[in-house]
Amino acid sequence: MALITWSTMFSTGISEQDNQHKKLIDLINQLNDAMQAGKGADVLGKVLSELVNYTVFHFGYEEKLMAQHKYEDTPAHKTEHTKFVQTVGDFKKKFDSGTAVVSVEIMNFLRDWLTSHIMKTDKKLGQALGKQGVK
Ligand SMILES: [Fe+2]
Ligand SMILES: [Fe+2]
Repeated sequence: MALITWSTMFSTGISEQDNQHKKLIDLINQLNDAMQAGKGADVLGKVLSELVNYTVFHFGYEEKLMAQHKYEDTPAHKTEHTKFVQTVGDFKKKFDSGTAVVSVEIMNFLRDWLTSHIMKTDKKLGQALGKQGVK
């Protein structure tokens, strides 16, 4: 079963941003499914790498939008991104060295962080950009 299901309540009003969030949710669900199915470190590592890379790409996309539109809450939003990339990057290092495994706790952390970041921080950005005519 999917850990996160995208629904319109997650919509920021910016279609490309929504599409990227759907992809992130899909990758988190893939990682969760692989963990639940007891897949090996090779499969989990591959999905985890994809998730880390796509997260970095997605944050870059949002930060570019913020800069282009002179978004006033840019520093606070960027700080949330930076901390998350650090946390997930640290986890990935531990996973790669065999000192951490993908667990229910990790999956819940990813789910809670992403859904709360979208609902609060990304929606706020989407609303501000919407006022400037971005769709
Ligand atoms: Fe986002
Ligand atoms: Fe964001």
